[in-house]
Amino acid sequence: MTDDKKSTGLRKGLTAYGDAEFSLFLRTAFIKAMGYSDDALARPIVGIANTYSGYNACHQTVPSLVEAVRRGVQQAGGLAIDFPTISLHESFAYPTSMLYRNLMAMDTEEMLGAQPMDAVVLIGGCDKTVPAQLMAAASAKVPALVVVTGPMMTGSHRGERLGACTDCRRFWGRYRGGEIDAEEIEEVSGRLAPTAGTCMVMGTASTMACMTEALGMMLPGGACIPAVQADRLRHAEASGARAVAMAAEKLTPERIMTPKAFTNALRVLLAIGGSTNGLIHMTAVAGRLGIEIDLEALDAMSRKTPVLVDLKPSGQHYMEDLERAGGLVAVLRELGPLLHLDCLTVTGRTLGEEIAAARPAWPQAVVRPMADPITAEGGIAVLRGNLAPGGAIIKQSGTSGELLRHEGRAVVFDSLEDLANRIDDPELEVTSDDVLVLRNAGPRGAPGMPEAGYIPIPRKLARQGLRDMVRISDARMSGTAFGTIVLHICPEAALGGPLSKVRTGDRIRLDVPARRLELLVEDAELARRAPVLPAEAPATRGYKNLHVEHVLQADQGCDLDFLTQRPYTAKAPV
Ligand code: FES
Repeated sequence: MTDDKKSTGLRKGLTAYGDAEFSLFLRTAFIKAMGYSDDALARPIVGIANTYSGYNACHQTVPSLVEAVRRGVQQAGGLAIDFPTISLHESFAYPTSMLYRNLMAMDTEEMLGAQPMDAVVLIGGCDKTVPAQLMAAASAKVPALVVVTGPMMTGSHRGERLGACTDCRRFWGRYRGGEIDAEEIEEVSGRLAPTAGTCMVMGTASTMACMTEALGMMLPGGACIPAVQADRLRHAEASGARAVAMAAEKLTPERIMTPKAFTNALRVLLAIGGSTNGLIHMTAVAGRLGIEIDLEALDAMSRKTPVLVDLKPSGQHYMEDLERAGGLVAVLRELGPLLHLDCLTVTGRTLGEEIAAARPAWPQAVVRPMADPITAEGGIAVLRGNLAPGGAIIKQSGTSGELLRHEGRAVVFDSLEDLANRIDDPELEVTSDDVLVLRNAGPRGAPGMPEAGYIPIPRKLARQGLRDMVRISDARMSGTAFGTIVLHICPEAALGGPLSKVRTGDRIRLDVPARRLELLVEDAELARRAPVLPAEAPATRGYKNLHVEHVLQADQGCDLDFLTQRPYTAKAPV
């Protein structure tokens, strides 16, 4: 038997009984209980990460995707074995799904290493699942490719087209502002998520799907196919077949996820007006391979990357429209001169070869040409200043543009609880020119850096018709949200960062064109002030305690320090 045969299929990673042949004998005996023949067990094994969960509505089609992948694996001569991992849905993880992204990444990585498989198809979809799976694949170094569940189709409410979750926030804002009543908001809740699949705007799930395809970790065309279309199953079948070939080629993730490939993914993030979460997640994936995301280089790239995709929340269309417009390749084709076309993808061919082989372009209104972009600059800007020495970001494509240069009086909330208690208090002293500040909502402080950066407009101002204010925090924001919202302030308040010393009444200046965020208070005065830290220890036991002790800041992807490959040996974008 060749060395190669000894380390593949059922022989891979034998359980440690001290007698390798006995370990194999026992393993074979047990798996035969599943009814497999010797012929089946002699084939290369393709694992399928099965993230079906009754708590995850975005993954309700996973069983049919598992079967389609299995069909593809078997047609290509492999043996498909699915296995469960943690599955995370945005609205079903207390206090926030982000707290558990790293736990899912650990679970997935360990199962890729502990169980015998020569390649794996990772079925993800909802926001945190795909990043967790990419992080796991990067660390486990098993040939891997991603299949996403795909976006939902849009719904309709009284003749108006709508979808999750940009319209969830829009209608909720109208309800808070007294424009619609309780009966109508109840009716809307039944229309926002009308089919299986992930949120159908350019939220985090869609952003991660597009970035994963641009990164080369998904078969071409896979990012945008709606969850309920037959093409989604054909894509899954093809992914299964390709995984068998990847096992033979030993096409491991680190050969695909290079600094140039991350640069392509970040370029796409900017051009699609993607979710700010895409930056945190891709930073975490890159960190697993010793690649640092350079925020200054990203900002420089953003200034030269136009937003081309007209999708909510920055634009007007939905993911099914992007699919009808040709899918992500329509964007990649436009971006061609700005991409590293020589990057290898899971197909074994380069990104440039895949773009050249794709269906030709046709007239459409969703992806703009480079000569006529939606905005000349990319969706995300990186801010620095005495309030964010480690950086902060703003999704400028998700704003009206009117407040990108603004100075105002700080109105400070010390925690999520403080925010919930006071934001709608009629006695709250606040005007439309003020800057709402939320602190102790970062990776350590909350803990888990919840999507609380979309601070609601105080009810009394919302009732006057106000729809946007400058809001700043160390939290994250849903990719489906919009507004003049500064996020990911580093270092976070819970670590004693400058945000912890802001007081209500201080002046704050935001200048996005100049990339500045300043607290207009003398250094000597700041030095005298005591930081306002979380009132209680964020966690004392179990996984939460592990998270609090080891989580990195947003500029390093919020991974756990012991899971990254540091010191970094490379940078992106390049
Ligand atoms: Fe799952 Fe939006 S809640 S993708």
